[in-house]
Amino acid sequence: MLLQTDAEPHKNNVEQWGERIIFLETADSTNRIAKERAKMGDGQGTAVWAHRQTGGYGRLGRKWEAPAGGLWFSLILRPGKQIAGLPILFSLWTVQFIESQNAVSCAIHWPNDIYTGEKKLGGILLEGVAAKEDADSYSVAGIGLNVNNPMMQQQDFKATSLLEETGLEANLAYMLEDLLLHLQFNYETAQQRGFSAFQDEVNEKCPMRDKMVSITQEQQGGLFLVREIGPQGQLIVFDEAGRRKEFISCERVTML
Ligand code: BTN
Repeated sequence: MLLQTDAEPHKNNVEQWGERIIFLETADSTNRIAKERAKMGDGQGTAVWAHRQTGGYGRLGRKWEAPAGGLWFSLILRPGKQIAGLPILFSLWTVQFIESQNAVSCAIHWPNDIYTGEKKLGGILLEGVAAKEDADSYSVAGIGLNVNNPMMQQQDFKATSLLEETGLEANLAYMLEDLLLHLQFNYETAQQRGFSAFQDEVNEKCPMRDKMVSITQEQQGGLFLVREIGPQGQLIVFDEAGRRKEFISCERVTML
């Protein structure tokens, strides 16, 4: 069901994701609006979808170009007990969905990017607010996928869209509805069984494994050999002296 932004908050969790979508032609950022709606009390599974964003952002506040034609939405989550590795899990589930629906082979670039070949197809942005009471805590999962939108030349990475990859234009509303159901099914599994239920699949989809990477991170950056994505979604690496290190996040990671 598509709703306007002034719809009254609905505190119950959405039974079937996709049943409660707040739709805007133009938003500054669906993540910002979803956080506002979560603060007002909207329940888990409420999605905010916009045809275009004027102030979309990614990790570390980087600008995210979001013209009409892409799939830009944010989902309210109220996991109660925190689930480890949610950004990489949402990346995995989105990759699975694209591969099954659009037959485009994808990979996860830790911590939150979706690539096909050398080009970025989309990104995930998880933002959370922890309150004293679990019931008042929430997270917002923002998903941006280049679908039918014209590709802008990004400065620091090459990007592509599903249209460029397949030559086919997708119906965004159907795509969103199906993706939300796929996310719900997997998210509920993660709530019951945790990250470990997906750790093998995450590693299979991660091309950094056993490769050298350059990591930019205050005081801790450098060159590393990636061992795997660990049981909390962290990147486990070895430095040049053979010492094991773990990264929960970083500014930038590049495969060499
Ligand atoms: C990244 O690559 O750093 C993540 C990009 C996430 C972009 C999506 S688009 C929908 C949602 N709204 C935003 O402002 N950002 C996310």
